[in-house]
Amino acid sequence: KEIFLKDYKLPDYYFDTVNLDFILKEEHTLVHSKIHVISRQGTLSPLRLDGVDVKLLSIRINSKDVKEGEDYSLSSKHLILHHPPAAQFVLEITTEIEPQNNTALEGLYKTTGNFCTQCEAEGFRRITFYQDRPDVMAKFTTRIEADKSLYPVLLSNGNLIEQADLPDDRHYAVWEDPFKKPCYLFALVAGQLVSRDDEFVTCSGRKVALHIWTPAQDISKTAHAMYSLKAAMKWDEEVFGREYDLDLFNIVAVPDFNMGAMENKSLNIFNSRLVLASPETATDADYAAVLGVIGHEYFHNWTGNRVTCRDWFQLSLKEGLTVFRDQEFSSDMGSRAVKRIADVLRLRISQFPQDAGPMAHPVRPHSYIKMDNFYTVTVYEKGAEVVRMYQTLLGKKGFRKGMDLYFERHDGQAVTCDDFYAAMRDANNANLANFKLWYSQAGTPVLTVSTSYDAAARTFRLKCRQEIPPTPGQPTKEPMLIPLALGLVSPKGKDLAVTSVHDGESLKFLKDEHGNGVTTVVLRVEKAEQEFVFADIPERPVPSLLRNFSAPVRLVSDISDEDLLFLLAHDSDEFSRWEAAQTMGRKLILSLVSSVQQGKELVMNKHFVNGLRSILCDSSLDKEFVAKALTLPTEAEIMDLMEVADPDAVHTARRFAVKEIASSLRKELFDAVTNNCSNEAYVFNHENMARRALKNVSLGYLASLNELEATGLALNEYNTATNMTEQIAALAAIAQNSGDLRTETLSKFYEQWQKDSLVTNKWLALQAMSDIPGNVKNVEALMDHPSFDIKNPNKVYSLVGGFCASAVNFHAKDGSGYNFLGDIVLKLDELNPQVASRMVSAFSKWRKFDPHRQALAKEQLERIAKTDGISDNVYEIATKSLAV
Ligand code: ARG
Ligand code: ZN
Repeated sequence: KEIFLKDYKLPDYYFDTVNLDFILKEEHTLVHSKIHVISRQGTLSPLRLDGVDVKLLSIRINSKDVKEGEDYSLSSKHLILHHPPAAQFVLEITTEIEPQNNTALEGLYKTTGNFCTQCEAEGFRRITFYQDRPDVMAKFTTRIEADKSLYPVLLSNGNLIEQADLPDDRHYAVWEDPFKKPCYLFALVAGQLVSRDDEFVTCSGRKVALHIWTPAQDISKTAHAMYSLKAAMKWDEEVFGREYDLDLFNIVAVPDFNMGAMENKSLNIFNSRLVLASPETATDADYAAVLGVIGHEYFHNWTGNRVTCRDWFQLSLKEGLTVFRDQEFSSDMGSRAVKRIADVLRLRISQFPQDAGPMAHPVRPHSYIKMDNFYTVTVYEKGAEVVRMYQTLLGKKGFRKGMDLYFERHDGQAVTCDDFYAAMRDANNANLANFKLWYSQAGTPVLTVSTSYDAAARTFRLKCRQEIPPTPGQPTKEPMLIPLALGLVSPKGKDLAVTSVHDGESLKFLKDEHGNGVTTVVLRVEKAEQEFVFADIPERPVPSLLRNFSAPVRLVSDISDEDLLFLLAHDSDEFSRWEAAQTMGRKLILSLVSSVQQGKELVMNKHFVNGLRSILCDSSLDKEFVAKALTLPTEAEIMDLMEVADPDAVHTARRFAVKEIASSLRKELFDAVTNNCSNEAYVFNHENMARRALKNVSLGYLASLNELEATGLALNEYNTATNMTEQIAALAAIAQNSGDLRTETLSKFYEQWQKDSLVTNKWLALQAMSDIPGNVKNVEALMDHPSFDIKNPNKVYSLVGGFCASAVNFHAKDGSGYNFLGDIVLKLDELNPQVASRMVSAFSKWRKFDPHRQALAKEQLERIAKTDGISDNVYEIATKSLAV
């Protein structure tokens, strides 16, 4: 059942052209496929086709019928041709499927009356028998036939080459994709849809027709998606020299979708929450997500489609790289520092814990049972950090050279992470030493740095030690190349220009492009222990370490609180200023946690509060940066840093800190709210988002005080809000405190938005995430609410996923949270294994908790693991979580 990277073998048979013919009907769908097969020279092996839940109606080779048993055999997951003809042949297969009963949302399925597909990673085998692997690339021609009034729009990949009516109010369309592709990029859509149309003229003058398709009632909410698409097309030309390669680009929004979106060639299919946005219904965060994901899927056209993966172990080749590209795109469209902060937070909140738990796996995993379980924050976000490290080591120009060589070498191919590494290295003649280990070693490296200044010798010394913790299957690790970006800040708050550094082996001279010293040095930490010495340093500097988060590591340093406050006030690197506040915040909350645990009095660090005050009052700072700097580390980050996570103590400690900050900065926070109100129409730009962010963070702090004036302010904000960003923030502020106002405002919100499914998701999530004691009861009740639908992944992520995000309630000592999730996982698994498996992952950190909680969580995992007929998806997560 488990598949290993080391077992990879080239295919024995290649598919050259594929003709698909879909006859869409209400009771079943017929799929005829006609494949030109080319066998590898001298191969005698059988041809094994994948097929799951498909009914075989007929099979012919070179127009002749073949016999079951003698010529082929059929099992629940395969169709095996025992002795196919040598050289080449034509294989014709007819299958029958039932998209209307497909609740797993993989392969061909129906969503609110329309047909659509999701084939990555292994969904195509639910449509027809095929070699469902990314290194089999073919040219697809697709004919779709359907009822004309029920399914007026018929779409597939490539160009529309034919279209006509048929008798009985039916019609058909034929699509031809000129580019060879693996079947995971195949897509089909049929339904009642309307489009927003636009055009993009590429740098070489190609006119590309752009269409975004949605049900009629949603089309007005696609303006921002279209803006994002055009911006992405332009950006990829300007930054990476990548031009679009067809005359047509379609995006379809569907309400039922397991993941975010899918980059099918010229026919991207999206979860509607990542396309639809209007000021009244979507928040700034939603607008930013639409921009990022529209960019992401578009960028896949080159990094994923033109150059694809050899096998699924290489997933990060396209995903890590494409996430890096979308991060850079969003940075260029908005604020770079704020985007970097958000991305690092994501890594710390989700990826670091994954790397420290039973599901830890390398960016390029060594094995999997179900590939869908490896679309993870490690493959995506840590993968993006690995790509970013090449850029940090090689410079922007060097990185671009590497990308150009990668495309030049591999356009039209299915390749590996080694090929990407080689392109980066060769284009720059670079020594990348042991960098490649980032792909194969799991676990977050701990980088310990201690510094000392020698006034007499005028030297500044930096001792580095790297240690990579053991992870399942990897007890010991080798050191790897870590780029450590740092600056030395003078007592006056200015960056020193450094001209040389001794790295323990030799003296390296440093120059920027004007021949001056450099203010941010990138040290290459390659060994387990390494020392660096800077000469000619006139005064003791404050080191600003790991600038811009130059590597995905846990930094441990001996830097004092005083120096952190200094960096918070003076560092030229905005990311590091934020990080200085976070480092202090983490220390503070951790020490409060131990006070809670020891029953000691809780005392707030006044210097930290004053540091925050100066940030809040500094009108020269970017407001979104201020909002981020004011936000304390999350409970998840704090628990991740503890030996034994204690959700109740963490919650008490963090709440205490929030309230202390709120009461100390009460006046400043009120001012921040009133000074940042605006009655102008909603605009999606950095300035306005920054203003709203600062206002909303301030409102959240004030609400924690649970006093009349603050509540009144929040209620007024709620009643006067003209956009969702401000409305939902005011609602969240009010909902912090239980009482009539909370209940009334929540029901007012529901009444206003009950017809908008994406908005009611926010309403469900807000209630589900609440830390109000015993909230599991409310969540259970919401499962029966008309706005909930267990078949819709977004609903499940909002309500069940939201609940698991409240540590106090999910990890409730009476086991009620675990019990709830256990029941839901089993129920979900019968409908949609991918969604069930994402939910069961909430249990995977169970060993982080005390013995009492461990026993309760383990009980649920064992109950799930031994349930008959459990999906491979859930089985893999449950058993790996239980394994030692
Ligand atoms: N390739 C898609 C992306 O843009 C994700 C598809 C994931 N699908 C799945 N079944 N795991 O990231
Ligand atoms: Zn992707």
